[in-house]
Amino acid sequence: MDKNFYITTPIYYPSAKPHMGHAYTSILADFFARIKTIQGYNVFFLTGTDEHGQKIQRAAEKEGMDPLKFCDEISKTFQNLSKTLNLTNTDFIRTTETRHAKSVIDLWKILEKKGEIYLSKYSGWYAVSDEAFYNEDEIENKDGRKFSKISGSIVEWVEEESYFFRLSKWEKPLLKFYEENPDFILPESRKNEVISFVKSGLKDLSVSRKSLSWGIKVPSNPDHVIYVWLDALTNYLSALNYPNKEDHLFKNFWPADVHLIGKDILRFHAVYWPAFLLAANLKPPKKVYGHGWILSGEEKMSKSKGNILDPLEIISKYGLDPLRYYLIKEVSFGNDGSISKDKLESCINSDLANNYGNLCQRVISFAEKNTNSEVPKYGKFNKEDLIILAKFKKNYDFLLKSIDEQNINGYVNFVVNSLFDANKYFNDQEPWKKKNDIKRLNTIVYVSLDLIRKITILLYPIIPGTAVRVLKIFDIKENDISFQSVKENEILNINFKLKKIDILFKKIEKK
Ligand code: MSP
Repeated sequence: MDKNFYITTPIYYPSAKPHMGHAYTSILADFFARIKTIQGYNVFFLTGTDEHGQKIQRAAEKEGMDPLKFCDEISKTFQNLSKTLNLTNTDFIRTTETRHAKSVIDLWKILEKKGEIYLSKYSGWYAVSDEAFYNEDEIENKDGRKFSKISGSIVEWVEEESYFFRLSKWEKPLLKFYEENPDFILPESRKNEVISFVKSGLKDLSVSRKSLSWGIKVPSNPDHVIYVWLDALTNYLSALNYPNKEDHLFKNFWPADVHLIGKDILRFHAVYWPAFLLAANLKPPKKVYGHGWILSGEEKMSKSKGNILDPLEIISKYGLDPLRYYLIKEVSFGNDGSISKDKLESCINSDLANNYGNLCQRVISFAEKNTNSEVPKYGKFNKEDLIILAKFKKNYDFLLKSIDEQNINGYVNFVVNSLFDANKYFNDQEPWKKKNDIKRLNTIVYVSLDLIRKITILLYPIIPGTAVRVLKIFDIKENDISFQSVKENEILNINFKLKKIDILFKKIEKK
């Protein structure tokens, strides 16, 4: 079995500080990276910054800064965010690095050699904030200005000599590829969007800019810089040391398992990127998943709309794990969702403090008083014990499938229901009334502790910091967390002295 797993986030534009939307994609990618790691996979998890192009050049000019110095500064804030979000990324790539330029130039040369690129003239619309070209039928007029109907960004007219990629030639092969790889674009609704875009006819794509200097130069014609999307998409290969195809990273991890992206950049990842790769005789990624947007009210959160919620501010007020939990559970994966302090506070109180925190606290303090803080020697399991323990084994394949199909909602629902079940089990079994039947009391405590262990392992990819603290009670170290062990019973060490634990989540007083 292939035990390697490669997941990527988009590389973010360091045109301004990171916001909640960036944090969202990164947290989701980290969820998958962690879950695959505890399943025993070698995981390569890549994130980074996309530093070339007009958008960045203009942002640097506005600050009166040299673009590289500007990127150095803002890319640092993205690297710091990765640490603050407790991401397990293997690498952080910057497109201004030499290793990246080497890959881009190689890919360009191959495409040029194969006759996939030719010199001509571009005249049409360009949106700097998306770094995207748009067709006439994708443009609308508002108050005398022109906007892209697709993204809502302002467009400007561009007329200049440009290299073109023969995208039109890849229309049929792409449609065939989508048909043969039905899971390539997910979720399903987005797949249909992409297919109808391709079916409506693909035009050759402008892949260089002459009026711009901030980028990687076209090797055979340094008057041009390579179009920033061709440059940026190649990051997924350059981090694996492409063009060295013998390198173990490239051999083990290409093609990528999942490019996790926002739905705004689906066309680049699901149309242009596989076309470039097929044209260069390289394998396309296995899957592109376009998640929804984090909204502020009804609108996408973005710098240009000025409606940004700062993840750092939220984390310093509420802590990281509540934010991770909220984004993973409350924003239905694949759809748009919103975040507000009020909703976050309710979620902390009901799910984290009442449901999970309470379960851990009650069981551990009961064990402190009644089993000398030890994992007690249990007696024979009764029907209720067996039913609740069996749920994890019974749903194990469902959980694995949910992860591989990016069905986060299914996975999280199982975890939340298990928490309710575990609390209910402890209530219904009333161990405090069993002081005359120590064997039964011990068995209830044992089962409850084991439920905490199982649920905490399932929670680890969502709230890793808290889960590691809880698993420490049982002396399970982060590197030893095994996903498979959730379906096993009777593996806690009898008489093991449970470690102490502080309150996990404080309830928030709501006004
Ligand atoms: N640099 C390009 C990507 C190149 S990948 C080869 C880019 N960068 S970006 O900084 O504008 O944003 C990239 C990603 O950030 C989006 O695709 C999405 O994953 C995430 N988000 C940015 N704003 C978002 C929301 N408001 N909501 C959810 N995610 C959003 O595009």
